[in-house]
Amino acid sequence: MPMTQQCIQKHYEGAWKANSDAAKHLRDITYSSPIEDAIVYPLYRRMIADLRLKATGGDVLDIGSGAGRWIRFFLENFSPKKLVGADYTQGSIDLLNKWFPTGCAPQTDLSFRLTDITNPALDLGQQFDLINIANVLFHIPEADLFNNAIANLKKHVKRDGMIVTTEYLPRAPVRTEWMLVRDRYHFEHAIKQAGLRIVAIKAFNIFANDPMGIEGPDDGARGDFNKVRAMIRSLGAANASSEETTRFVITFLTEIEKALLSFCADRIPDIEMPSQKLVFLAPV
Ligand SMILES: C[S@@+](CC[C@H](N)C(=O)[O-])C[C@H]1O[C@@H](n2cnc3c(N)ncnc32)[C@H](O)[C@@H]1O
Repeated sequence: MPMTQQCIQKHYEGAWKANSDAAKHLRDITYSSPIEDAIVYPLYRRMIADLRLKATGGDVLDIGSGAGRWIRFFLENFSPKKLVGADYTQGSIDLLNKWFPTGCAPQTDLSFRLTDITNPALDLGQQFDLINIANVLFHIPEADLFNNAIANLKKHVKRDGMIVTTEYLPRAPVRTEWMLVRDRYHFEHAIKQAGLRIVAIKAFNIFANDPMGIEGPDDGARGDFNKVRAMIRSLGAANASSEETTRFVITFLTEIEKALLSFCADRIPDIEMPSQKLVFLAPV
């Protein structure tokens, strides 16, 4: 049975609490794969530099902060003047308050807020230079709630600010139990309706992430990608007992991703890649 925003909220409430309770150090709270991180973080940093985004010295909002992956990214790589982490689960807000305590980032005014980005009355009281919303919009299957979320992004970004979202942008929608991945036409229409435009699309991670850039049934190309992905995960698990081998496997798989991405970069438009993409949106 495909999940709704409400079921997803219930899932993450429990997941983030369990994650926080089980952790002994901040480094124990992991969410993404190290292969994905090794590709997407440098790409994101390069785009922030190329597009002259105000990650340092600016006001940054991270929506759907979860276990704080992007809070760490911004604090470890930049010095935002203000950084607000927002999530609609109390589990996430508790985790963030515990693992990113007051004073942990002396240069940054850091705070966490229980926030539902689909709330039509949402008012965070200010606009931001940069809004990060990673792996959230596909968790909003309801059409009206999705449109509310996009409108809230527009409402809370400065005139010269930028919104960064992670999208797959297939040619046809893909519905799984957890996700409604909207097709590129629907996505672009919703963006335009809200008064936003796509500034850049940058593909990352072919095997280290769901192959949702490929539309069609699971026994087609997406199934083939899923098989490879599952084997990559088993390879990691099989070698987890030796730190050295784990490191080698991660480096090896990261290099495969990099080689594939750089081969494709000059030949295939990013939107056609089977991977997830960083999508940069600005007010029209
Ligand atoms: C897949 S996790 C992504 C976490 C993190 N952004 C990342 O990229 O690793 C999705 C997160 O979005 C949050 N979320 C989903 N719907 C939301 C909504 N309507 N408003 C705010 N947060 C939401 C969930 O609670 C969860 O923490």
